Amino acid sequence: MLQTEQNVLRKFYYPVMPIGDLKEGPKSIQLFGEPVVVWLDEQGKPAAAIDRCCHRTAKLSLGEVRQGCIVCPYHGWTFNRDGKCTYFPQSQLDNPPKVYKIKSFYCEEKYGYVWIALDEPLRGIPEFSRYGDPGIRQIHQFHEVIHCSALRLMENSFDTAHIAFVHHNTFGDNQDPIPPEFELVPNETGFDMYYDVPVTNKLNKNIKAINVDGDTTVRKVHGTWHMPFIRQLDMTYPTGLVHSIITCATPRDDHSCTLIQFVFRNDTEAEVPASTIIAFDRAVVDEDMVILESTESNVPLDLTLRMETHMHADKPGILMREMLLKLLAEHGEKESLPQLRTPQVYEMKIIERV
Ligand code: FES
Ligand code: CO
Repeated sequence: MLQTEQNVLRKFYYPVMPIGDLKEGPKSIQLFGEPVVVWLDEQGKPAAAIDRCCHRTAKLSLGEVRQGCIVCPYHGWTFNRDGKCTYFPQSQLDNPPKVYKIKSFYCEEKYGYVWIALDEPLRGIPEFSRYGDPGIRQIHQFHEVIHCSALRLMENSFDTAHIAFVHHNTFGDNQDPIPPEFELVPNETGFDMYYDVPVTNKLNKNIKAINVDGDTTVRKVHGTWHMPFIRQLDMTYPTGLVHSIITCATPRDDHSCTLIQFVFRNDTEAEVPASTIIAFDRAVVDEDMVILESTESNVPLDLTLRMETHMHADKPGILMREMLLKLLAEHGEKESLPQLRTPQVYEMKIIERV
């Protein structure tokens, strides 16, 4: 799938940056290949529009914010959050011509992040369990560009077979490559996945980020996929510790995404400092990204094309592909695929657990 060519994907909210990043002025981001300028309006709410002036195409993000509007750095035309030109310094007109306008986008703040939908959203920003619960703190972890497609990152988030290999230096056990049994329950907006998995703390026995007393423990996992590119991985340990990660793969283009990750925890800063928790997850994310950045950006949704092979533990990723394909069909779209120089065609059999 070439995600920039599937218009329905523009109808979801994606987080793009922590809201605090806008304090110093407007910022430029890329979303589905579109250059987007993000700034704070007069109420302190985030606003987003195309980062290209309708006059001579200058990047508005190089300008400044005045009274909640974005001012073009080239000739000073000024646009409000709806994209309307409100001030045209070369003329005495009170109302600049209506054609002086730029495309604006749906933009909201939630969970301390700026969320953008490029077209009218099909649904709101996902609700995350744990958010707002008494005794729960939220910790910002990562905001960075990853050079892999958003869907590869999402699939990886539900792939239990990679743990023993990719994460054997942090929490996986490379002596035990058999993935755990899991239950998958599809719903309107994605699916839920449940499994228990043994984990070890190999990173640093003194780091209690995953609360391992002794060498190993069992992680009870409830993963939730929020279509298309957000997952919550809610983990509870026998000690009662909750570590509930929100991972968002916001597409920049067909080959890269912006990773936004934050976590909900039911312990305190005095028990485990946020820096310790971030350090642990940093090591885990770095392990994933080395592999993910080595993968091909094209993730074929249509399994009948037989472009990849599959195993039992791929079922969450296969369900994602099926549900995305259905979403496209419901909106009258076909999967858009790149031209492959040497297409490989494999048998479509999924090897079941033996
Ligand atoms: Fe923006 Fe001229 S290019 S005002
Ligand atoms: Co991983």
